[in-house]
Amino acid sequence: MTSHTKAVIMNSPNNPSGAVYSEETIQKVADILRAKEAEYHHPIFIISDEPYREIAFDGYTVPYVPKYYENTLVCYSYSKSFSLPGERIGYIIVPDEVADFGKVYGAIAGAARVLTHVNAPSLWQLVIGRCADMPSISARMSGTGSSCIRAYRCRLYLREAAGRVLSLPEMPGGR
Ligand SMILES: Cc1ncc(COP(=O)(O)O)c(C=O)c1O
Repeated sequence: MTSHTKAVIMNSPNNPSGAVYSEETIQKVADILRAKEAEYHHPIFIISDEPYREIAFDGYTVPYVPKYYENTLVCYSYSKSFSLPGERIGYIIVPDEVADFGKVYGAIAGAARVLTHVNAPSLWQLVIGRCADMPSISARMSGTGSSCIRAYRCRLYLREAAGRVLSLPEMPGGR
């Protein structure tokens, strides 16, 4: 890290290693970053890239980074938990308490527009709105969730909506 460091990207659960950072590790990173913020006299953000948040097994809960470090921005994508790669649909959490909240929020909103790749299809937005609270894939695999995985339920909703305007081929399983 140098005085030019403005942010650190954290990716847990990690791609490709699968590592999940423990509370202790996150706390240590937070302590280091707070010390560096004091030394450099400016905020240093953690950008917590966590599209694999729900892909954790054996009942392991992935720690929520803003709980340990105030200046954390959380990036989430539905591409993994809903099997929606390429749809560019997700969200960024900018907690109220982050430093320079207004500027950071404005910069993210502006970047999303000028980078032009954040055009989540309206159909998927509607489908996700109906599926977001369902048990995740990992909950099902560890036997604690319902028998309906979100990715599958998602496709049923999509077919229901799209089927009104399109002729769709059969899904395996007869649906
Ligand atoms: C760690 C990590 N972050 C972010 C992404 C981006 O996901 P998407 O562009 O599909 O929303 C991926 C996709 O592979 C990833 O592995």
